[in-house]
Amino acid sequence: MAEKMKLGVLTGGGDCPGLNAVIRAVVKTAINDYDMEVVGFMDGYEGLVENRYRQLKSADVSGILTLGGTILGTSNRADPFKFPVLQGDEYIYLDRSSQAVQNFERLGLDALIAIGGDGTMSASHGMAQKGLKIVGVPKTIDNDLFGTDQTFGFDSALASAAEAIDKIHSTAQSHHRVMIIEVMGRYAGWLALASGVAGGGDIILIPELPYQIDVICDKIKERNRKGKNFSIIVIGEGAHAEGGEMVVQRKIEHSPDQLRLGGVSNRLAAQIEGLTTLETRVTILGHLLRGGTPTAFDRILASRFGSQAVHLAYKGEYGKMVALRGSEIGNVPISDVAGKVRKVPLDSSLLKTAISLDTCLGVEHIPALEEAEMAI
Ligand code: F6P
Repeated sequence: MAEKMKLGVLTGGGDCPGLNAVIRAVVKTAINDYDMEVVGFMDGYEGLVENRYRQLKSADVSGILTLGGTILGTSNRADPFKFPVLQGDEYIYLDRSSQAVQNFERLGLDALIAIGGDGTMSASHGMAQKGLKIVGVPKTIDNDLFGTDQTFGFDSALASAAEAIDKIHSTAQSHHRVMIIEVMGRYAGWLALASGVAGGGDIILIPELPYQIDVICDKIKERNRKGKNFSIIVIGEGAHAEGGEMVVQRKIEHSPDQLRLGGVSNRLAAQIEGLTTLETRVTILGHLLRGGTPTAFDRILASRFGSQAVHLAYKGEYGKMVALRGSEIGNVPISDVAGKVRKVPLDSSLLKTAISLDTCLGVEHIPALEEAEMAI
């Protein structure tokens, strides 16, 4: 009798809604369609390096479809090529990639399904070059992964952000305040733009369009003149003033991307109060956007991604990441994805929609958008 195929699965990087839905789809598809065995590594690549894993049977993934977080744990500090090891009270960095390959081989694995964002895909690209047979699954609330139209996790974070903006609207209206809502998203403005449009933000600020404070204040004053004595501003954590810097909240030495952004809204609020004398308050949504149950859209996307990843592994199509292309699930070489960030294009039709809805984007003109319109 032919030996059963054996799959490993891990979740890396920041958690987000839908991770468990992918794990469930991987395990169910592997067992139901191919009678494979599955093991789950704990805490992302950390588990592969340290040989920490657990068997995953159907019963282990029962009831987890709607659960936030990941039953396997995750880490965004576990690059096998630059693995942090505590020596005394300091971290040193060791290349533990060969150990990861050894553990993979010792377990008799045929393939590894790596669910994660750009850090995980970059590590996976390196591990694939060392011979590991990997299939990637694109995750992140930031929606900034190259090669896929959308990552799972984004829709759920968007729903949470939109709901928060809706709730903040009432205080803005009742107290005639300027309310700033800061959302995550790192160097890309997908979450800010989409939630800003969904929540009817009056001003939306994204990292791709460095803002001019005068443009923002003029918009707020114009609204007041028209009798709208409140304003909602939605800002991405990576947004910054023209000629200014992003606001870094902390630096995490042993993380592949060391910078943690956050707090730009406090800086902006002080400026707005100074220039308009209007009371301006800040809500930073932060990790709230990474929690909770996935939306129906994300449950479906995560399930499709997980199943397709197993089909690719079965067919021996390694070194690929499953991807959403229009409404279909395709795939892309992980080498095309690693190390790249997908930002909001400045000729994006959603930016155009926002402008049509009288939303201020913090700048007077977007030349790329104007050129795109002229070309139509
Ligand atoms: O990539 C997801 C994300 O939530 C970003 O939006 C945010 O900048 C970052 O992770 C925060 O990371 P941490 O959980 O390490 O603070």
